[in-house]
Amino acid sequence: MATTIAVLSQKGGTGKTTTVRTLTDIFRRIGLEVLAVDLDPQGNLSDYFDVPPDADPTVADVLAGKSKAADAIHDGVLPANLGLAESELVLSGKMGREMTLRRALRDVKRRYDVILIDCPPALGLLTVNAVVAADYALISAEAQYFAMQGVEQALEVIELAKENLHPDLEWLGVFLNIADMRTVHSRDALTQLKERFGERVFKAAIRSSIRYAESAERGVSIVDYRPELGADYLGLAEEILRDIGMGDESGRVAALRDELVPA
Ligand SMILES: Nc1ncnc2c1ncn2[C@@H]1O[C@H](COP(=O)(O)OP(=O)(O)O)[C@@H](O)[C@H]1O
Ligand SMILES: [Mg+2]
Repeated sequence: MATTIAVLSQKGGTGKTTTVRTLTDIFRRIGLEVLAVDLDPQGNLSDYFDVPPDADPTVADVLAGKSKAADAIHDGVLPANLGLAESELVLSGKMGREMTLRRALRDVKRRYDVILIDCPPALGLLTVNAVVAADYALISAEAQYFAMQGVEQALEVIELAKENLHPDLEWLGVFLNIADMRTVHSRDALTQLKERFGERVFKAAIRSSIRYAESAERGVSIVDYRPELGADYLGLAEEILRDIGMGDESGRVAALRDELVPA
């Protein structure tokens, strides 16, 4: 049965989609079967994985009850497009609206080791569906002013989901993303996160670099494009796998890092 992780943040531009894409690449590299779920109507994750824009059905059809999840998976991706915005509206009027994705993924969980869900840039019904469908919620925090506020808000959604809908949901933690450690903002953000959340802050922080935009444009994973930067994500992947009880797989990521980024 797949372990499901939702990657969320209070807003857009915090590196969520890049995180889901890169973790998917890394997990697949060590031999895991990974399903990447795009829950953002902008469809950035689907684009990254080269799902054709006219792919049909999509996650919108799954949430609308028009299609089974299994039929909407294209090469390991459950894609999204702008139609998902409409689905969210339709969904909001339905009973059990927060549980829809969870129910839909039940049938496909057996086929995968890990399911990663990329959330939209708002803490609305789609993000609630993502965390309710997940075993673990992972918060991406941008290294900026007000980072703490965003993390607190995302955490509130996780707590509400846990109390009212999904008691087994676990908060995996928060990591600093798009961080420029030369700036006082980034350093302050990390200090504040550590003071507030202690052990829940991942040791790996994802450094900011123009190479991410380039690698996205070229459709190459950062792990291959600039392994020395990809090392940040390899570190994050290692910590995540360890924390969710996949110690052997975590070790395989460590070995991959030694291979890609010789000391
Ligand atoms: N570590 C990074 N350093 C610099 N730019 C990044 C980094 N990660 C992502 N980006 C860029 O920042 C933008 C937003 O990233 P994205 O992953 O789409 O965030 P979100 O999904 O939270 O909106 C994209 O243009 C992406 O290429
Ligand atoms: Mg995104």
